[in-house]
Amino acid sequence: MPTQFSQSLTSLDSFAPRLLDWFAENGRHDLPWQQHQTDTPNPYIVWLSEVMLQQTQVTTVLPYFARFMESFPTVQDLAAAEWDTVAEHWAGLGYYARARNLHKGAKQLVEVINETGDFPQTLAGWEAIFGVGPSTAGAIVAMGLHRYGVICDGNVKRVLTRWAAIDSDITKSGTTKELWALAERLTPRESSGLFAQAMMDMGATLCTRSKPACLLCPLQNDCIAHAQGRETDYPVKAKKQPKPSKFSNALLITNENGEILWLQRPDNGIWGGLWSLPLEFIKKIEGKGSSKTSAKESQTKDDTKLEVASNEKVYEAEFTTAEQIINEWLDKNELIRKSVNKTLLDDAPIKHSLTHFHWYLTPQSLTLNAKQATDITEALQAAEININWLNANDAQATLGLPRAMVKILE
Ligand code: ADE
Ligand code: SF4
Repeated sequence: MPTQFSQSLTSLDSFAPRLLDWFAENGRHDLPWQQHQTDTPNPYIVWLSEVMLQQTQVTTVLPYFARFMESFPTVQDLAAAEWDTVAEHWAGLGYYARARNLHKGAKQLVEVINETGDFPQTLAGWEAIFGVGPSTAGAIVAMGLHRYGVICDGNVKRVLTRWAAIDSDITKSGTTKELWALAERLTPRESSGLFAQAMMDMGATLCTRSKPACLLCPLQNDCIAHAQGRETDYPVKAKKQPKPSKFSNALLITNENGEILWLQRPDNGIWGGLWSLPLEFIKKIEGKGSSKTSAKESQTKDDTKLEVASNEKVYEAEFTTAEQIINEWLDKNELIRKSVNKTLLDDAPIKHSLTHFHWYLTPQSLTLNAKQATDITEALQAAEININWLNANDAQATLGLPRAMVKILE
């Protein structure tokens, strides 16, 4: 009977044993979150590490994981922690939505444990936790519970598209389905956790994005992409639109004691829940080709082109209520307008790339007298906004600051 897959039955059936033999001989067995050498796996550890590893490499995650485990050894500890403490532990790891999901997810998990006496035991149970998608759920069930679970993350997709020469766009749902079906076909019933570990390791160490080490690969003799000499043509991915750019001033508003005004950003949106300097949104420039105004054009001599955006229309999700209050207050007191254009053109802005756009941040400093500092503090507190006056050192030590803020302080 022909299979629905491009590989032969023999190849499909020998995939797992070959991969597991390779893993036993050459894989990594000393990563601190691995649970394959114990009979009593800890799903908390697997969940925590998988969320950290979703968009970040092993070497970067290692010290963060160690600090999390030290401060929050159990899910109950994490659930009971203050958000600021969690944010501080996460600061620098990027994609902060993951930290919020971890904190919310810990609370959800504690609820499940209080109700049922244990962690969720099913894929559906784990997928109900914030930040856990189908592949992370598969990893947790397979590696954290030693039950049957299938993973199909970016690493797996790269290996499988190459091995089976799947050349359809992996961002399309039809391709996703095909890859999941293949991953399920290849995952052994009895040792899906070990198989998941081995796949991740293979993808990360051998079948790498730009220089796969095919000569060391256990799949080499029937890998179609390798036979074609076209390893790096897979996976096929639709070309991304270039990222648009946004320009903001980052306001270093200082009081007479040399303390800087910090705002806690709202939970939704960029840097949600973290502390940042107030930002003044200036101008958004579309990605290449989609706008008549390029970044270069708007930074030429014509000062008037870069105006602080104070009209409603240009406020975006990233521009918080707090920043609107500050912007209007500065406006009213005529405290910043005059210097903006000049320094904006003088200073090289700090470039910070986020998922959906490049952000150019220009630091602007401004010192307030005691009356002004009290004024702005009261205006913000009246709007129930969390603020803090802290000098640069104390802010870095005690607030969860996004990396871009650290760059500005430096
Ligand atoms: N990438 C995602 N999960 C991983 C894991 N458990 N080990 C190594 N790399 C990973
Ligand atoms: Fe990847 Fe090369 Fe192995 Fe094929 S042979 S799966 S391209 S490392």
